[in-house]
Parts: sequence; C-alpha cells; structure tokens
Amino acid sequence: MQEYDKNSVAKMFDEKNYNREARVSDAIHDRINQLSFEKLKLSPTDILLDIGTGNGNNAISAAKYCSHVIGLDISKKSLETARERVSELELENITFAIGSFENPSEEMDIKSQGITKILVTYSLHHLPDTMKPAALKNLAGIFKGKGRLVLGDLMLFENPKAHIAEFNKVGYDGGESDFPATVEFLLKHLEALGAKCQVEKFHPLAGIIIADF
Ligand SMILES: C[S@@+](CC[C@H](N)C(=O)[O-])C[C@H]1O[C@@H](n2cnc3c(N)ncnc32)[C@H](O)[C@@H]1O
Repeated sequence: MQEYDKNSVAKMFDEKNYNREARVSDAIHDRINQLSFEKLKLSPTDILLDIGTGNGNNAISAAKYCSHVIGLDISKKSLETARERVSELELENITFAIGSFENPSEEMDIKSQGITKILVTYSLHHLPDTMKPAALKNLAGIFKGKGRLVLGDLMLFENPKAHIAEFNKVGYDGGESDFPATVEFLLKHLEALGAKCQVEKFHPLAGIIIADF
C-alpha cells in the first residue's frame, strides 16, 4: 500500500535542508534535469512553472531564457534557500511560492499567470498513483492555450525488482516515499487529458515524457 503524507514529505525536504550543497547530485538525476530542461525549448516569451522546484536550480537556470519563472514547492525551507539565491543573483523574473500538485494555487493564483511551459523533475513520483491522475489534470488545467509539460522523473519502464542494485544510482528509495508510476500509466493519463506525448527512456527506472497540449 502506497502511503502519502504531504506534511512528512515537506518535512523530509525541509530536513534534507535543500541548501545549495544538498542538491541531489547523482549523475542520472543531473542528466535527467539537463535533458528535461533542453526539452522545454524555452523562448523569451515563455512563462515557466517549475513545480517541485526544490532549491530552485532549474528555475534559476531557466530565468535567462524566458520571460518569467514561477517555482512551487511544499518545502518552505527549500523555497527560502531558493529565494536567497535569487536575491544574491539579482534575478528579477523569478517568483517562488508554496504550492503542490494537489493545489498549485495554494499561495498564488497560478492559472492567471499565463504559463506556457511546465517543468516537473524528480517530484511527481512522491505522489502515489491514486493521486497522480488528479495532479496531472491540475497541471494540464494551468495552460490557457497550447503548452508543453516536461516530466523528467523516476518512471518504470521495467519491473524495479530486476534493478534493486541500481536503486541508489537512480535515486529510488524502493517505495518508502518514492512511488514511481509505470510509463504506460503516465502516458494513459496524459493522453486522456489531450496531450501528445513523446517518451525518452533514460534508465529502466527513469525517463522523460514530453507532453504537448
Ligand atoms: C528530489 S526533489 C527535486 C527538486 C528539483 N525539481 C530537482 O529536480 O532538483 C523533490 C521536490 O519535490 C517536492 N515535492 C514533494 N511532493 C510534492 C508535492 N506534492 N507538490 C509539490 N512539490 C512536492 C519536494 O519538497 C522536493 O523539493
């Protein structure tokens, strides 16, 4: 049984003290972030939502390529770090707010921001599958017109039991607080929302889905 408790996930990331050094830095996570970022194909008119932004690494990198970036997370401490970094870098086109897959607009009205791209890296897998369809629906509902959502995350291309030795390498805790879905599950729900999807397998347990709405 997959159990989800938003407060304990937020606490876990608060305590992981998502400070600038504490970034998940294994090669697969980094590479997925990098590739997901490229797949966004950001342009100067884009307004990007980075949900599960953590300490804002991707949001900060994106700021110079688009008009505005909004980073949402459930971990207040991660957002504090992200804000400090943005103020040190004197970036003026990034806003961070508390918000979740369940309720993106907890602190700011996300639907009225004119979001054209959404980035989700290594965060959706914290929700169990029972909650993912509603989360994806919330994300799809943020676009006013066309939009691209890039999901780079743990996702099961194969049975994880065949890859136990690589759990650490791919950043999977084996089901304690990580609940990756199968690729088929994610595609089924994204396509049901009207997305045209491309998939890039990166590892038997991780990949990228590019969903165009
Ligand atoms: C492994 S970190 C990834 C951070 C960043 N996206 C990256 O790839 O470096 C996962 C992040 O997802 C956030 N998160 C977990 N559950 C979430 C939820 N339900 N809604 C929004 N963010 C969530 C956590 O607080 C954490 O900052």
